[in-house]
Parts: sequence; C-alpha cells; structure tokens
Amino acid sequence: MSAPGSHSESLLYTYCYRWAKKLWPSRLLRRHKTEASIDIAPFVARFLVPYQFAVMKALLLLTIAAMTVLSFGFAFRLLVDHGFSTTHDSFINVGFLFFLGASALLALNAYFRITTTSWIAERLVTDVRREVFGHLLTLDQTFFETARTGDLIARINTDTSLIQTLFTNSAAVAVRSLLQLVGATLMMFLTSLKLTGIVFLVVPIILSPIWILGRWVKRLTKQVQEAQGNAEAYAAEHLASVTTLQLFNREQTILGRFINHLDERLSLVKKRIHVRSGLVCIVIFFAFASVSCVLWIGSQDVVSGHMTAGALVSFVFFAVIVAGSLNSLSEVFGELQTVSGACERLVELLIITPTLTQPNRPQTPTFNKEISFNQVTFSYPTRPTLPSLTDFSLTLKKGEKVALVGPSGAGKSTVFQLLLRLFDPQSGTLTVDGVPYKACDLPSLRQLFAVVPQESVIFNMSIEENIRFGQRSPVDAARFFKFCKKAHVDEFVALLPQGYQTIVGEKGVRLSGGQKQRLALARAFLREGEILLLDEATNALDAESEAHIQEALSSLLKDKTAMIIAHRLSTIENVDRIIVLDQGRVVEQGTYAQLMALKGFFTRLVHKQQFTS
Ligand SMILES: Nc1ncnc2c1ncn2[C@@H]1O[C@H](COP(=O)(O)OP(=O)(O)OP(=O)(O)O)[C@@H](O)[C@H]1O
Ligand SMILES: [Mg+2]
Repeated sequence: MSAPGSHSESLLYTYCYRWAKKLWPSRLLRRHKTEASIDIAPFVARFLVPYQFAVMKALLLLTIAAMTVLSFGFAFRLLVDHGFSTTHDSFINVGFLFFLGASALLALNAYFRITTTSWIAERLVTDVRREVFGHLLTLDQTFFETARTGDLIARINTDTSLIQTLFTNSAAVAVRSLLQLVGATLMMFLTSLKLTGIVFLVVPIILSPIWILGRWVKRLTKQVQEAQGNAEAYAAEHLASVTTLQLFNREQTILGRFINHLDERLSLVKKRIHVRSGLVCIVIFFAFASVSCVLWIGSQDVVSGHMTAGALVSFVFFAVIVAGSLNSLSEVFGELQTVSGACERLVELLIITPTLTQPNRPQTPTFNKEISFNQVTFSYPTRPTLPSLTDFSLTLKKGEKVALVGPSGAGKSTVFQLLLRLFDPQSGTLTVDGVPYKACDLPSLRQLFAVVPQESVIFNMSIEENIRFGQRSPVDAARFFKFCKKAHVDEFVALLPQGYQTIVGEKGVRLSGGQKQRLALARAFLREGEILLLDEATNALDAESEAHIQEALSSLLKDKTAMIIAHRLSTIENVDRIIVLDQGRVVEQGTYAQLMALKGFFTRLVHKQQFTS
C-alpha cells in the first residue's frame, strides 16, 4: 500500500491519525507505561485510509442499528403507560407493527454491516501482509543474520489475523456499544436524573479494572505472540532439515523441545484467559448490580407516585443497554489490547530500516576500468570484534581473471559478499571506476555481477525457471540451450521425463549436489554479468564434468572479468593473478609461477594438496 499522496488523502490521513491517536488504547496507556513502546497509531491510520468510504458506510449502519435498538425503549414506555389502558387498545397493534418493522430493519442492517466490516478486514489484512512482506524484501543481510524465518512468518500470518478479528467483529461491536452507551445514557438522564446519578456512581468502579487489567492483557499478548513465533521458528528450522535429524535419531528430543515451546505459550495464554475473564466478571457484577439497585429504588418511586411505570420500564431498558454496552466494551477492550500487542510486533518490523543506505541521487555505476578495495577492514555484524578481512586492498581490472585462495575461513567468500554490497565495511572503501559503492544505485551495482555461490541456491520451481531466474533481459531459446549445454545441464535434463519443466522441489531436493551446481552455473552464464564471481563453482562435480566445465569457462571468460575462489589449485593455473589470503589478510600475490618461485605460503598449499591427492 502506498503512503498517502494527494492533498485530500493527506488531510484524511492527518484526521485518521489524530482519531487513532485519541482512541487507540496503547496511546492512552502510554502515560502510565514505563517500558519503551511503539507508536502504532500512524500505522493503523495509514492502513485505514484507502477504506475511508467503506468505514463511513459501516459507521452509518452502526448508527442506524444503535438508534433502532434505543427506539425500543420509547416503544416500551408508550406501551406500558398507554397501551395497557382499555381506551387505547389500538396502541398494542401499532406497537406490535413497530417491533416487527424494527426487527426487519435490524436484521437487514446486520447483513450489510457484517459484509462491509468483514470485507474491510480481509482487504486490510491483505494490505498489511503485502506491506510487511514487501518491507522484509527490502531489508539487508544484517537483519537476516539474526532474524528467524519462522518468527517472521508467524508475524505475517498470526499477528495479522488478530487484526482481522478486530476489524471483522470487535470494532463494530465497540462502535455500536459506544453509540448505544451514549444514546441510552442521554435517555436515562431525560427519564430520571436521580436514578441516572446512582448508575453513574458505579461507572468509575467499572472503568478502573478495565484500564488496569487491559494493560496487563496487552503485555501478555506480546509475550504469547513471541512464544508462538519461537515455536514456529523452531518447527520451520527443524522441518527444513528433517532428514538429518532422523539420521541422528533426534526426533524425540526435537519434539520434546517443540512441546516446551508450546507449553510456554500455553501457560501465557492461560494467564491471559484468566485476566480477560476476570475483567469481564468484574464488569458484569458491577453493571448488573447497579441495574438491580436502580430497579429497587425506581420501584419505590413508582409506588410513591414520583414516576410512571412506563418511565421505570424504559429507564431499566436503557440501563440494561448501558450495562450491556459496558460489558461489550470491556470485552472489546481486552481484545483491543491483544491486537495492540500484535500490531506492535508488526510495527517493530516495519520501522526497521536497511543498514545499506542509498544516496538521494544515486549514480548508475559503469564498469570500464576497475573495481577496487581500498584498505578495507570488515567484521560481520554478529561478530563485531572479530574482523574477517583486515586492511584488504585489491584492484580488479576490466578483463582480468583473479583467483582468491587460502585456507578455510580465510575470508574468501567475505570478499564476494562485500563486492556484491551485501554489507558495508567498517573502514576503507570499495569503488567501481572510482565511484564509491555508497554513491551507487544498489540494484544497478548488482547488475554488474553474475555469481555462482559456494552453496547453490535452488528454488522450488522448474529447471528452466531456476536457470532463467537471474537473466537480466529475456533470453531466446537458442541462447538458453547454448548456455545449458556449456554448464552440462542438458546431459541430465535429457534423462528427465519432463525435461526443463521438471519441478526440482524445495531447495532443489530432487537434484544431486553436482546437478544443483550445474544449474547455478547455467544461471550465472545466462545472466551475462560483466563480472563473474565463482565461489568453488565446480567443487561438487566429478573430475570429468569439472574438466569439461573448466573448458567451457575458459571460453566464456575470454572477454569477461572474473574472480574465482578455488580450493583445487590446479584449476587456477592460468589466471592472471592469484591473491593468497590467510586470516583475513593478503599474504602473497602474483601469477602461479611467481608464487611457486616464492616458495612461501602458496607453495606450501600446493604441495599439501598434491600430497593428499
Ligand atoms: N555470516 C557470518 N557471520 C559471522 N561470521 C561469519 C559469517 N560468515 C563468515 N564468517 C566468518 O568470517 C570468516 C571468513 O569466512 P569466509 O566465509 O569468508 O571464509 P572462506 O575463506 O570463504 O572459507 P571457506 O573456504 O571455508 O569457504 C570465518 O572466520 C567465518 O567464521
Ligand atoms: Mg567460502
């Protein structure tokens, strides 16, 4: 959903914001709160703006419903005071017709009201889900390093369905109860000041538990949703690697921990049920006790002639409506606290901003000369004190093929992550043709690259869709098959009954490791990025396939720039330059022959590998 743009929209937005600020309980409670709280009023207002007319229609219908109910009070009064006397017997017939007509009106009103509010709720929740998911897609690696997928899914699904419940039912009940409360109170004042005074002595007693317990309900709800998120994150993570846990016979342990998560949620829910029911219990007692009290005092007034029987009947009717409305409002208030907790969890996500900043006027990067790392020091956000690259400088010239080698954990893949701007370094800069990365338009920057990551990422779609996933512009069938052939995809696809349309399963479970890697290679070839980044791109292949692909690579890379990470050092003999990394620092660099002549770190790596093979 877009932010309000036009003048009238922004006026309405301001109005809705003020309205929501006034009505939304979390704002009202803010004054009493000690814990930091998120302002959810603008969030609610922004999502309501597109449904302004539907909301107004629902409000109108609710007002009509409330007025119809209140009119019953008048009818009762007239019926008791005049209808039961023998001279006005036609009153009974008119009264009966009135009740019949009003009932039909109420029924029709309910139909239109429910369809309107339910539709608003469904659309609203769809908007919220779309916005939250869209926002998550804009967040960068730093966020996903610590986020848990299951918890995010729980927020998108469960938290938003709580909002749906509010708008399908509770909001309507609240508005109608509020209207009836105001209307019936007014009628009570007009009928008997004395009795009304008695009723309203009780109101503060009813309202105080609503405020106090409501706040408690909200806090509990947030905890419940968090526990739910934990359970879902746990289930999602273990279902994703179910085979491994079966191989290690860990089913019972995993189930046990899942049950612990569920129990934790259940105990919080139990507490919340008790608090909410307690709230309703207190309100019901005081509300109905005050009605009984009024009835008792009113009956004495009728007997002494200070009041007609019809007036007392209609007063009691209005008092019952006030009590019923307060009761409904207390229930809705509890629900509102629940929703408010859920909203906070969603707003928490929506206010996270990407750490990779984009300038106001980003430049579209070009790659005609070089990409450079200038004294870059970088540590991952979750390990701020352990640099993965220290004082790293490197210039990759257009057309050059550079290899990165070094022991496991040396920082090779980290170099790629920075090249692709998945993170920004803490010190030093990266530039492309002299333009700092931070000044570049991020999508255009990433357009320059085609990557084969260390672990192939395959989606649950067809082989063709997986390969075409990275294409920058539509690629015709002839070129598509050419690249598939070069990546040796065609060999195994020919054996599949559905060929390129075969669906490969979640994370490509229906393919072998080498087949997945070949898909990833074909995807990178098809992308035709100017700089090819290969992170152990052929390590899952057998010697023969690897040799074929190396051959294809050397022809593909002829007029391209490439950075290649390789453990098998024999595959990088022909590159222009080799950078040797150890513990995040460059320890040696030069051509294969130069490094071998040095008889240093690289030579030792080569010898070790020759010895082991
Ligand atoms: N997401 C991450 N969060 C925190 N630390 C990380 C992360 N990824 C890598 N590291 C750490 O950064 C260091 C460099 O990792 P990197 O993946 O660059 O190594 P590598 O040279 O590619 O190793 P390999 O050959 O095993 O793939 C390692 O010590 C690793 O533990
Ligand atoms: Mg790596």
